[in-house]
Amino acid sequence: MALLPILCYPDPKLHRIASPVPGVDASVRRLIADMLETMYDAKGIGLAATQVDVHQRLIVIDISEQRDQPLVLVNPGITWTSAEKKLNEEGCLSVPGIYDGVERFDAVAVSALDRDGKARVVEASGLLAVCIQHEMDHLMGRIFVEYLSPLKRNRIKTKMRKLQRGERD
Ligand code: NI
Repeated sequence: MALLPILCYPDPKLHRIASPVPGVDASVRRLIADMLETMYDAKGIGLAATQVDVHQRLIVIDISEQRDQPLVLVNPGITWTSAEKKLNEEGCLSVPGIYDGVERFDAVAVSALDRDGKARVVEASGLLAVCIQHEMDHLMGRIFVEYLSPLKRNRIKTKMRKLQRGERD
């Protein structure tokens, strides 16, 4: 297994749209293992392949306290959303140190393949539903800060660029 470098906003590669995974083979399973290792190492609760510069529809999630309940979604597709939406505070491994409110569906159902290539449906609410919607946005090239006001977004962009140059505020 290996730790993978995580792209940081505003890297334009984060806006690429991912293609479907053609099949869950050994190389995909290796990518899943590496993404899980990378997510746990970075203390994140979710990671999309887009964030490690692999533009395929694959996400990994673990919202458990013990960090031992990995959820792997290959080619995820939302099949149902609740009528209700809620505002939640979100963060992202690609936008370190930034947390802000985003409105998401309170509950969703998602069809996907698991790491064995088996089709399954996941019904999620609360934090898991938020996380799935956040990670699926990545696969469409969308970062959570794009839901914020242009003023906030520009401030975050400037901050991230400074951070990447190793400057302080
Ligand atoms: Ni993210």
